[in-house]
Amino acid sequence: MRLNIACIPGDGIGPEIVAEAKKILNQLASVYGHEIVYKDLLMGGASIDVHGVPLTDETIADAKAADAVLMGSIGGNTTTSPWYQLPPDRRPEAGLLKIRKELGLFANLRPAVLYQELADACPLKKEISDSGFDMLIMRELTGGLYFGERRTVEENGVRKAIDTLTYDENEIRRIAVKGFEVAQKRRGKVTSVDKANVLDSSRLWRNVVEEVAKDYPDVALEHMLVDNCAMQLVKDPAQFDVILTENMFGDILSDEASMVTGSIGMLASASLNDSKFGLYEPSHGSAPDIAGKNLANPIATILSAAMMLRYSFDLDREADAVEQAVKVILNKGYRTSDIMPKGGDAAGCTLVGCREMGDLLADEIR
Ligand code: IPM
Ligand code: MG
Repeated sequence: MRLNIACIPGDGIGPEIVAEAKKILNQLASVYGHEIVYKDLLMGGASIDVHGVPLTDETIADAKAADAVLMGSIGGNTTTSPWYQLPPDRRPEAGLLKIRKELGLFANLRPAVLYQELADACPLKKEISDSGFDMLIMRELTGGLYFGERRTVEENGVRKAIDTLTYDENEIRRIAVKGFEVAQKRRGKVTSVDKANVLDSSRLWRNVVEEVAKDYPDVALEHMLVDNCAMQLVKDPAQFDVILTENMFGDILSDEASMVTGSIGMLASASLNDSKFGLYEPSHGSAPDIAGKNLANPIATILSAAMMLRYSFDLDREADAVEQAVKVILNKGYRTSDIMPKGGDAAGCTLVGCREMGDLLADEIR
């Protein structure tokens, strides 16, 4: 198969982790007989440095022309980087929001899994982490507060800022459908998260989700208020299968869920539109403090590439091979510094860098 992949290495550790993901993809291509054509694109700070803007129209066109996009991470240190002296719509993050909108990537899938091998990194009490957990946050990505009208005005000498939160029923329905579809392939449970005790947009959300649920009698639906969900994530994460929620709540809850796994360097994500097209990126950020030091954990990006193989190319066997390689290498005790337990060498773990982790995983795919 011929795979046309646009790559956005981005900023910070982005270029290093994307290089390792390419290493794995190239290995898969030679083992399973595929041809991969890459096109590297600039976005975020890397694009600001060259073009003065975080995302150009040519980059959008190039991304659209590809079958899928693999991204590293974008953004820098918000207090020290000159990118953050620019007006908000020209900062690195504006590029990310724009590409999500332009490519219609309304469904953001963020798995949060407690890896048994890394259970010690889980910050929760042992009696909670012992039961393990494996959830997927289905976050709406192109609506809500992120894309509503916003402005800052001055009224009678008082500064005032306005952000608007809007959802129409079609936006809610299409993400709900994705949530139920993915639940069917998992453990058959959807927890729809909203703030229906306060917000109109949440009351509509709840009604539309109820309507969609009728088409999925094999999936159990429950509703949960977002503040309660934030609590439940640390109290009993094993209760969740698919968490279905709007853009802003999903942003916050997905960071919380990833922290609870204790290994954000392991978590992949996919942002999909209505076709097979998707943008795949690790759940973590650009970690500018460790950029260029061969310290980053490339596994989240490599697992994002596996999601790409599965969702955009239907290459399940290849995706399985990547996920299997990750398990084997963790079992053998190899760890990047973010997932290295204290005193890990005594426990038989071996500390490796970003490149070495990529090499080990590539070697495992034969
Ligand atoms: C994320 C990030 C982005 C978001 C930022 C960088 C705009 O936090 O992907 O979760 O809020 O969506
Ligand atoms: Mg976020």
